[in-house]
Amino acid sequence: MKIALGSDHAGLSLKKIIIKHLEEKGIEIKDFGTYNEDSCDYPDYAYKVANEVAQKNFDLGILVCGTGIGIGIAANKVKGIRAATCSDTFSAHACREHNNANIIALGERVVGPGLAIDIVDTFLGASFEGGRHEKRINKIADIENNK
Ligand code: RB5
Repeated sequence: MKIALGSDHAGLSLKKIIIKHLEEKGIEIKDFGTYNEDSCDYPDYAYKVANEVAQKNFDLGILVCGTGIGIGIAANKVKGIRAATCSDTFSAHACREHNNANIIALGERVVGPGLAIDIVDTFLGASFEGGRHEKRINKIADIENNK
């Protein structure tokens, strides 16, 4: 499994914790920035990660900003991306199982590191259930394609 990660300055510390955790688990990752605490704009990093995931260069993406909201909204503007901002483990598996989310967004100012790690592990461990959910995912794609 290959995971693309990105954050703005407000999500940098949590992203580093998540990266360390994933590397310890032997999961292949790539960090698309930001790499320092200088103030920056979350859409830039949302776009980099979302593009990589949409092009299937990575299986899933993890984005972190202050709230997880802005970076998630921005990622969802890329065609083929279903980014879910999650602050709990139920949403973290439901967004994979029902929505086939391919990016999870987290807020460093919202969740502590312990919960964030549980959320990430839950997200990565869950799978899309298909079935009745497939039709709904296809309707999201139809909206993207103005059908
Ligand atoms: C940065 O201050 C903050 O606005 C950003 O990280 C994020 O929370 C936006 O949604």
